[in-house]
Amino acid sequence: MTPEHSDALVFFGITGDLAYKKIFPALHAMAGRGMLDLPVVGVASSAMSREALIARAHASIEEYGGGVDTAAFAALSAALRYVQGDYRTPATYTSLKQALGTAERPLHYLAIPPSLFSTVVEGLSGAGCTGPARVVLEKPFGRDLESARALNVTLHKCFDEHSIFRIDHYLGKEAVQNLLYFRFANAFLEPIWNRQYIANVQITLAESFGVEGRGKFYEEAGVLRDVVQNHLLQVVGFLAMEPPSASYAEAIRDEQAKVLRSIPPLVREHLVLGQFEGYRNEDGVAKDSRVPTYAALELRVESWRWAGVPFYIRAGKRLATTATEVRVQLKSPPAVVFHEAAAAMASMGNYVRFRLGPEVEIGLGASAKRPGDGMVGQPIELTLARHHTNDEMDAYERLLGDAMEGDATLFARQDAVEAAWAIVDPLLKDGVEPLRYAPGSWGPAEAERLTSALGGWVMPA
Ligand code: BG6
Repeated sequence: MTPEHSDALVFFGITGDLAYKKIFPALHAMAGRGMLDLPVVGVASSAMSREALIARAHASIEEYGGGVDTAAFAALSAALRYVQGDYRTPATYTSLKQALGTAERPLHYLAIPPSLFSTVVEGLSGAGCTGPARVVLEKPFGRDLESARALNVTLHKCFDEHSIFRIDHYLGKEAVQNLLYFRFANAFLEPIWNRQYIANVQITLAESFGVEGRGKFYEEAGVLRDVVQNHLLQVVGFLAMEPPSASYAEAIRDEQAKVLRSIPPLVREHLVLGQFEGYRNEDGVAKDSRVPTYAALELRVESWRWAGVPFYIRAGKRLATTATEVRVQLKSPPAVVFHEAAAAMASMGNYVRFRLGPEVEIGLGASAKRPGDGMVGQPIELTLARHHTNDEMDAYERLLGDAMEGDATLFARQDAVEAAWAIVDPLLKDGVEPLRYAPGSWGPAEAERLTSALGGWVMPA
């Protein structure tokens, strides 16, 4: 069945931060490609005129969308409508229904606090705005396994699973998709992509900035809920999944979910939590907050392919640099042939490096003979680099387009979301005091313990 294209976009929370930073620029880019031929209805509780909303869209695109294109902006402004109202009041949904006019299959985007999801879904249903509609949600999908299950029950009262699009923008990133493509569009990786050849996998999501005015949100989230349970576990899924079949639409999500279900819950000895010095002075942050802004952890994927291979993850705010990188480290050659070089070789080795941001890169690490006398090696890297271009589709633009077409491949499915929560759930609430670390550092020294047997964490290139 070819799903029908959505015929309107509805944004709950149009006056908020996400709309300002991501949604308006994505809509503007879509308009630029001639892909925005439908009404866009913003909904929010603030008193605001349609003109003021258009002015806000303009400012957002100037600031975050790389500048305004006159024709694209004219198309976006013509499409924009605004409905003001309280999400708890039925009249808001009646006004929305009117603003939708003849549209029958709207895509409702819930860019609002998760605590309001059920109110809005029920309001939509009460006004007859669900039916063949679709709904898009932003992560975090719940706060833990129990609330994620409850949220899914609420959503399923009004929407089928195939009409629910859970956005994890990492899945829409060019570099994350390339990870999947590179693995399965080439034959040379498959023979080595397993426990026979791979020693360990490290994933680093380092950010040099802090919580940037989002202290209130971050207090509710912390690093495990903010980026580990979703973005980084999705990356583990892409790295570790079995080749998906090309013959049915759910294949990638099936394989992704299978990986997440094969990961046993995190244990305390394999988790180090940190908080950067100064976090407690941020706006919206409690003076005695125990919310972690850094995590380093070890996971196992208990499958035939990966048994015994540790997967290490670390993520943090106010670290030494901003870089997201995966390093798949291969085992050493089985015997030493070049004695003079043995010590040096030990520190080089073979690896595959995926740089996921800010730049997109793939690197293959090897050892080669240094020119000159003696069999002495040096590390070399074959780097296949590709930098962002203006033409590259932003994750939000891609994901919005996919949701409008009803293509759910790059969205998180209920079972995968719940499997990911099950991994972190036991340690979300243990209330352990995170270790302090200095802004600009690599996090608490204690994190070194996790990887000391392999020579420590690998620094992003
Ligand atoms: C978001 C988190 O989901 O992802 C942020 O809430 C984080 O805290 C961001 O900074 C990282 O994604 P990106 O695409 O900016 O690297």
